[in-house]
Amino acid sequence: MAKVLVIYGTTEGQTAKVSQHVADVGRRLGHDVDVCHAADLGDDFALDAYDAAFVGASVHEGRHQRYLVRWVKDHAGWLKTHPSAFFSVCLAAASPFPEEVEDAEAIIDRFAARTGWFPSSRTLVAGALRYSQYNWLKRMVMKQIAKKEGGDTDTSQDHEYTDWNALTEWGEHFYRGLAA
Ligand SMILES: Cc1cc2nc3c(=O)[nH]c(=O)nc-3n(C[C@H](O)[C@H](O)[C@H](O)COP(=O)(O)O)c2cc1C
Repeated sequence: MAKVLVIYGTTEGQTAKVSQHVADVGRRLGHDVDVCHAADLGDDFALDAYDAAFVGASVHEGRHQRYLVRWVKDHAGWLKTHPSAFFSVCLAAASPFPEEVEDAEAIIDRFAARTGWFPSSRTLVAGALRYSQYNWLKRMVMKQIAKKEGGDTDTSQDHEYTDWNALTEWGEHFYRGLAA
């Protein structure tokens, strides 16, 4: 059994939900998993208490949360020397257009170049349109983007695109590697 950290950045909450799912996958396999918001780490947080880590962040306007990027930069040395994996939550991951998915991969490449951490395991996770949490302007902008992309434009409800089974499989693969 390994002690595993899932640390994340989020803006509207979907990456927090994804992180809980990744943690639950590990717990079912018998690991001891903690989930932490990178912007809200307590004074008693100690990275050295962990054997491995997942890092997750969502994409807004082409980049991940600044505080998460900073945290990864500060801890790149640890991440490089421990089993670690990165998941990037965005809407492009659910796009039917291959060039959008390529762009989403390129955003991870830039994240790696900026932080100095090139995770050996990484994945794109389709996020959500959480219209209920956007202000009026953001709701209109996101509706226009969704329309262009063939996504959901009914702003009276939220729409989730996360493929929970694919996420489970990806997580299981990483956790099994820890046991090996
Ligand atoms: C203002 C705004 C900008 C966004 N920009 C992008 C983007 O550049 N690329 C993308 O693929 N998704 C983009 N998204 C979609 C988010 O990545 C998606 O909603 C994700 O689920 C957000 O995760 P979070 O709730 O953890 O912050 C954007 C969403 C918002 C609200």
